[in-house]
Amino acid sequence: MQCAMTTNSTSSINSLTITRPDDWHLHLRDAEVLASVLPHTAKQFARAIVMPNLKPPVTTTAQALAYRERILAALPDGMQFEPLMTLYLTNNTTPDEIRRAKASGLIHAVKLYPAGATTNSDAGVTDLRLCYPTLEAMQECGMPFLVHGEVTDPSIDLFDREAVFIERVMQPLRADMPELKVVFEHITTSQAADYVRTASGPIAATITAHHLLYNRNDIFKGGIRPHYYCLPVLKRETHRQALLAAAISGSPRFFLGTDSAPHAKGAKEAACGCAGCYTALHAMELYAQAFDQAGALDKLNDFASVFGPAFYQLPVNSGMLTLERTSWTMPAELALANETVVPLNAGETLQWKVI
Ligand code: DOR
Ligand code: ZN
Repeated sequence: MQCAMTTNSTSSINSLTITRPDDWHLHLRDAEVLASVLPHTAKQFARAIVMPNLKPPVTTTAQALAYRERILAALPDGMQFEPLMTLYLTNNTTPDEIRRAKASGLIHAVKLYPAGATTNSDAGVTDLRLCYPTLEAMQECGMPFLVHGEVTDPSIDLFDREAVFIERVMQPLRADMPELKVVFEHITTSQAADYVRTASGPIAATITAHHLLYNRNDIFKGGIRPHYYCLPVLKRETHRQALLAAAISGSPRFFLGTDSAPHAKGAKEAACGCAGCYTALHAMELYAQAFDQAGALDKLNDFASVFGPAFYQLPVNSGMLTLERTSWTMPAELALANETVVPLNAGETLQWKVI
């Protein structure tokens, strides 16, 4: 890492240059919304793993390649960005579809949405055992399996659904498929961080900036704050601390994934608001803030730019990204097709800025 570091205390660092990072978990949506959000991500990140939970979901290689073309067509002139495509696993995804996806060279992972777990997950998997032949094909050809790790059993408390998923789904799955490459997506608990740190075999986890910076109190500070609502939901402070410790630990099993998920303002500020935090505009600023607060800016380069490519067996980017310590105010709203999206930290002052 090249950074203007003069002491071990990162609070004296005013400028940080890292290898150009990638976002290993991103929602870009489609059509006009895609056109609104894509430049925000492309400004900061060279590549992103693009989530397939469109309506209808991206379940075939042909659909993923067509979606990739739409993303590239929406990229403003002069911007460099490579979308890394994924398939949405259903009960009916075939082993042949996995082999087609792998052979395309452009589809880098398959995503598990347990049916009913989150936004556009209705077509998701009802019982992972139905998918075993398909998972075996993934294991065989080295296709990463990206897991939304929450049980959907309504009798399990919302805040416990990730921890229960580890026992009920993750451990049995990995015992049956020890060579399957698994990413435990957007982990939110100390149990998930402990599991990923200590488990054997090919496993990693993405961590969002908002789960590093906030805990569940932030959803209810002075009233209900829908823009802090995402899934898996923010947890208590001890979990935030465990995630931060994992992120700055230097373990290559933990890397950056924003889970930036745009929803129109009206869909969030509603009687039944959608889950998702929009962080694409200021993702690296938020990660820099979290690492800075932990005195660990020197760990940001590996987390943001090195460990992800290593897991996905892709080259590290050749460009650089510079952040400066300078105050700026997040806009209250951003354009989203013909509506607006309220970003996380709307109207707040941030301390770092990508230049
Ligand atoms: O908060 C979330 N929003 N979590 C997810 O898993 C999906 C995402 C979305 O697509 O809006
Ligand atoms: Zn997501």
